[in-house]
Amino acid sequence: MSVILLGWYDANARQMPWRVPPQDRAAGVLPDPYAVWMSEIMLQQTTVATVKDYFRRFIIRWPTVRDLASAQDADVMGEWAGLGYYARARNLLKCARAVVEEHGGMFPADHDALLKLPGIGPYTAAAVSSIAFDLPHAVLDGNVERVMARLYDIHTPLPESKPLLMEHARALTPQQRSGDYAQAVMDLGATICTPKSPACGICPLQAPCAARKAGTMTELPKKTPKKAKPTRHGTVYLGRRLDGAWLLETRPDKGLLGGMLGWPGSDWVDVTLDHPDSIPPVTGTWEEQEGEVRHTFTHFHLILRIMTAELPRDAEPQCGVFKPHNEFRPSDLPTVMRKAFDLIQQDNMS
Ligand code: ADE
Ligand code: SF4
Repeated sequence: MSVILLGWYDANARQMPWRVPPQDRAAGVLPDPYAVWMSEIMLQQTTVATVKDYFRRFIIRWPTVRDLASAQDADVMGEWAGLGYYARARNLLKCARAVVEEHGGMFPADHDALLKLPGIGPYTAAAVSSIAFDLPHAVLDGNVERVMARLYDIHTPLPESKPLLMEHARALTPQQRSGDYAQAVMDLGATICTPKSPACGICPLQAPCAARKAGTMTELPKKTPKKAKPTRHGTVYLGRRLDGAWLLETRPDKGLLGGMLGWPGSDWVDVTLDHPDSIPPVTGTWEEQEGEVRHTFTHFHLILRIMTAELPRDAEPQCGVFKPHNEFRPSDLPTVMRKAFDLIQQDNMS
């Protein structure tokens, strides 16, 4: 099956800014491991379409792992803003620094050494091993899980079926062209064997596919239902000094949105009351804005009440620092904090 899939990939590989096309790989060109690693970290939990622009910006700003390793934390976190799952960005920096300090600035061509680096788990270690170094390691992301479940008509639900799906993914991974193969399965899952309407009629694997024979492809992969997400509540304070500076804080490294810029505010809590009392970061005439911010994280929904105030020039906040107007880029904010900013901008314009 891998031979058929590689033939299909030769004709149908998608173009991506971090990818070396199969024709060039055949001529001996391998991609820059730094670019492969960065793209794979970004692609976890994020679509290819979104990642492309972020990837280009990162590579232009930090062309090598040494450049990234010596970057300011705040610059990297700001450039990552909007991609979500911010632990990935903190680990991106840690990993770049470890590659420079422990491996002389070269990503190791070794699966187990990659696995020891910060933020590199089994998926990323396999993806970088295969795509950057052509080592025969099997990748199992959401696309590959779906393709395997269908090829072998596996009805055991995820995540229970993962080990079995991994066995199949391993058995199919060829010793030659492992990097092209890994990308071929992912491309097949993304473009042909799609979740809702797989295009079996033009699929290179239609002959051996068990789910197609059984007519079960759209039911697969089965998934154990997830628990409903709870809703948490909180308050954020958007304070602006008379000279235009905004009161912002860098969130502590640990926890959700760790290391990101944000508005000072309350903890986020599960409550039956709509809005728990909270203490402003600085005394002032805080007014509640109309509307609220709604945002969904992996494990909960969040509803934020927004307070705004114009602050005097001599305001002395308990937390956060005033960022001058010309140093504040709203694009440095993580999405939930950006939503709060956008909401008050709208109100100011209407
Ligand atoms: N998803 C994650 N990594 C990918 C890759 N290298 N090619 C296509 N889709 C992907
Ligand atoms: Fe997926 Fe259909 Fe191809 Fe089977 S034949 S791998 S279900 S697209």
